[in-house]
Amino acid sequence: MSSSINRRDWLKKSVLATAGISAASAFIQRAEASPIARQELYMSLSPEFQLERDYAHFAPAVQIRARLGANENPWGPSEKTKKALTDSLSESNRYAFKVRGDLMKVIAEKEGVPESHILLAAGSSELLTASMIAYGAKGKIICADPCYISGNEERIPMEKVPLTKDFQYDLSAIAGRLNGSQSLVYITNPNNPTGAILPIAELNAFIDKVSDKTPVLVDEAYIDYTKSPKAECAIEAVKAGKNVLILRTMSKLYAFAGLRVGYAIAKPEILKVIQPYTSGGFSVSVPSFVAAATAIKDVDFQKLTLEKTAESKQYLYDFLKKMDYSYIPSATNFVLFPIKMKGADLLAKLSAEGVMVRKWEFDHQHWCRVSIGTLDEMKIFTEAFTKVVS
Ligand SMILES: Cc1ncc(COP(=O)(O)O)c(C=O)c1O
Repeated sequence: MSSSINRRDWLKKSVLATAGISAASAFIQRAEASPIARQELYMSLSPEFQLERDYAHFAPAVQIRARLGANENPWGPSEKTKKALTDSLSESNRYAFKVRGDLMKVIAEKEGVPESHILLAAGSSELLTASMIAYGAKGKIICADPCYISGNEERIPMEKVPLTKDFQYDLSAIAGRLNGSQSLVYITNPNNPTGAILPIAELNAFIDKVSDKTPVLVDEAYIDYTKSPKAECAIEAVKAGKNVLILRTMSKLYAFAGLRVGYAIAKPEILKVIQPYTSGGFSVSVPSFVAAATAIKDVDFQKLTLEKTAESKQYLYDFLKKMDYSYIPSATNFVLFPIKMKGADLLAKLSAEGVMVRKWEFDHQHWCRVSIGTLDEMKIFTEAFTKVVS
């Protein structure tokens, strides 16, 4: 059975190679036309399914006690958001046109751009999927290795550029590789899985240099956790009319992972490229729209999340130092650190303790990525980690 699949794969690959098409390009062509392939791409880009893939081999027999694998916000949704959700239930018999418009206004005001520069969606995975299809059909997506999409080379035609020795983006190497065969530069900033942030001056200089010829997508899923999100994001490049597409999610700081709200910010010409592969925000429910508008204004909850994240992150840093483990300083709600065993072995052992994390392998090294949870969850993690590595 498996040898016949291997032979079939080999045959498929040779036919594609003869035709000059990579398997990933062929997949994107299918995803352009087929909702099933689009759904497969969406699932492979979604954190929940990535987690499922990591845990597929060792379904934990025990109850999950610390869910630290998908960078969710354990403190939310806020009380104000929950009230907005329940209050809006009585409006849920109506279609969402008005509340969708209300949220557009709130986002446009927050970002300081016209509403024509905003595209809503059910989470940023929908927008990312659409961007990969729209641009992947025209050429290669150039990205860092590792970054949020780098594990998806079977489905996305991509060119990967290693991070520097300090685990930072190598923007000059990326710029040096651009030769017309790439249709998009994809940048996760701050990066996932490393948590490192790219200084905005460097990113802006890079955008100035390359974006006339190759558009730049900046996936800012974690920008809200940085010291100064307004100053550190790429919004000024959008306002200056550059070919820049920013993706934002409400899944993290606003605790909307299950409510599903995300948006793109770009000039209308760019939004038009990806819009055909999205629902245009019409797949989001009335309660989610209403709650999102409330959550954006709920600065007290955002502040609380940032304070609690900083406290739990410091606890994790102190633990790792004490255990003689290094880590990459993180601007986000997760921390990546090198481990001294195989990632799959660590996951198997931690899952037996009821702890969920994620694993990576790059730079000839196995890594563990821990999402920042409540202090109680971090203690569960540190106790389990101590037990399984000793
Ligand atoms: C860098 C990055 N982009 C996009 C997403 C997708 O977020 P969502 O679909 O929940 O908005 C995630 C989720 O973890 C992420 O880490």
